[in-house]
Amino acid sequence: DCSTLDQEALALSQAALKKESMQEVRRSLPIFPYREDLLAAINQHQILVIEGETGSGKTTQIPQYLLEDGYTKGGMKIGCTQPRRVAAMSVAARVAQEMGVKLGNEVGYSIRFEDCTSERTVLRYMTDGMLLREFLTEPDLASYSVIIIDEAHERTLHTDILFGLIKDIARFRSDLKVLVASATLDTERFSCFFDDAPVFRIPGRRFPVDIFYTKAPEADYLEACVVSVLQIHVTQPTGDVLVFLTGQEEIETCCELLQERCRRLGSKIAELMVLPIYANLPSDMQAKIFNPTPLGARKVVVATNIAETSLTIDGIIYVIDPGFCKQKSYNARTGMESLIVTPCSRASANQRAGRAGRVAAGKCFRLYTAWAFKHEMEESTVPEIQRTNLGNVVLLLKSLGINDLIHFDFMDPPPHETLVLALEQLYALGALNHLGELTKLGRRMAELPVDPMLSKMILASEQYKCSEEVLTIAAMLSVNNSIFYRPKDKVVHADNARMNFVVPGGDHLVLLNVYTQVAVVGATVTNVFNLIALIMHYFQLHVNRYLLSTRNAVTAGYFYHTARLSKGGYKTVKHQQTVYVHPNSCLFEEQPRWLIYHELVFTTKEFMRQVIEIDSGWLLEVAPHYYKSKELEDSSSKKMPRKQGKAKEELG
Ligand code: CDP
Ligand code: MG
Repeated sequence: DCSTLDQEALALSQAALKKESMQEVRRSLPIFPYREDLLAAINQHQILVIEGETGSGKTTQIPQYLLEDGYTKGGMKIGCTQPRRVAAMSVAARVAQEMGVKLGNEVGYSIRFEDCTSERTVLRYMTDGMLLREFLTEPDLASYSVIIIDEAHERTLHTDILFGLIKDIARFRSDLKVLVASATLDTERFSCFFDDAPVFRIPGRRFPVDIFYTKAPEADYLEACVVSVLQIHVTQPTGDVLVFLTGQEEIETCCELLQERCRRLGSKIAELMVLPIYANLPSDMQAKIFNPTPLGARKVVVATNIAETSLTIDGIIYVIDPGFCKQKSYNARTGMESLIVTPCSRASANQRAGRAGRVAAGKCFRLYTAWAFKHEMEESTVPEIQRTNLGNVVLLLKSLGINDLIHFDFMDPPPHETLVLALEQLYALGALNHLGELTKLGRRMAELPVDPMLSKMILASEQYKCSEEVLTIAAMLSVNNSIFYRPKDKVVHADNARMNFVVPGGDHLVLLNVYTQVAVVGATVTNVFNLIALIMHYFQLHVNRYLLSTRNAVTAGYFYHTARLSKGGYKTVKHQQTVYVHPNSCLFEEQPRWLIYHELVFTTKEFMRQVIEIDSGWLLEVAPHYYKSKELEDSSSKKMPRKQGKAKEELG
């Protein structure tokens, strides 16, 4: 009837209007005046380095320009890599919106464990790791007409490996266009690496940013952030605030503190919208940071360094920079990898400050001294390839038939001992034979999109007949490391909640339990009693068997991460490094003699996160070529005294 037709017409015209204003926004971006020159340069050169200030439109516009210029004719694809999952998702969503298409149709994204693309997808945003994996199925990337390696300055491990591989295939695929896009950093080095490829510079619009330092170092930068935000809110004119913190926990704590203080101040202050952004945040929450700030209110975005260059949030005038970031660090001698909160580089600090000057003159508050900036910070961040375990990448390169890793075309080569250690570890896991060749197991491991130890654990579970359990654990470990969130003001509450899930054996089994129980919670609507009865029945039959064999499978993958109880803490078996059970672990009090940990995190000391109790005998069973029985002898049969009470206090 008429009224629905009217409504449809209205909806259509509204969509047309929205699209029209979208096109206007597109034309207002700094990159737009250079559209024709850029396309001409791409036409003329096979490899082009593109440099432009963050927010100039590189990521969202260049793929669209290429599409408009015919680069997707004949079903060819344009691929654009991002170092971060969140960026790949959010940028793809934005571009789909600009083009007026449904995300996953013409425009899509592909990140680990999530593929939002279809047959029709011609603009494909993806993490650098995903493109790397595509080499396994399509070694010459034949279905792509253009590859954009975006955020090249981030120098992630995967981006660095892509540089070498793509430079190589560009030699025989003369029709492939390669664009290396970067913020205004390091572009000469990229040009040099790609045989003096020309650099296309997009002049940025940047307003002046005043930089303020603290007079003395801050003892508690989280508290200092909260105070600074509130000070800005009550003393400074309109404009949104961006705070840089190092990770999810810090960000959540900061947001809570801010909300609580605002509640206390009540109507004495204007509205403050507090929005977090970090990798594990659900995507509907992520999208919120892009919503315009209502009149009279102020937005504060609390972000990891994802907001440094990967994401542009309009309207930011004030930046608060405590000067830290979370970084992987790797000891090539001991093979120990851990996450460490460390001072960021001067290059990073300058990028952060730049975020304040995009729309108008801005201010950046550095929560460290001018002296620290000059003398305590590194000039630039060390590329990830030089501070990480290379097991995953070596396995992938081996699967691609690249055997001579020493002579691989690295922009910055990894330390020799790191390469050697990766080869040794892959040998111990059974992925390589004694000649360094890929084994059948190794090939299967390479096909799973997870790190070698995790893939070995999953594959070993077949043999131990506990694949379902182990897959669940693997998924839980991969998806989120801190499901047990411990807000500072609710520590007791959080610890009690966690106790409900504790089962004997270790954190891995607790994760499994949580998964099962959450599934039950989700299904309550149907028939609680029947379901619970059924599951109890199931557990009684299988509990013992799966607890034991699941731990065997974990051991088969993670035997490298074994620690033995010793005075005051634990020591790693091979290198006698002192490590501690994380206070959040269910084994914190129990202190079993032998443990396997999933990862190390350095806060006040080296903490093992996600630990599981094992029997040292299993080590000989799963890694006879790595462990000798002498190393695994127990010197006494009594449990060591508990000495970890202090760690819990230190962690706060
Ligand atoms: O890649 P580059 O930093 O040069 O810029 P971009 O990511 O293409 O962003 C260009 C503009 O698109 C930004 O200034 C934002 O205004 C807008 N944008 C957005 O509104 N939402 C997104 N998820 C991404 C970009
Ligand atoms: Mg970008």
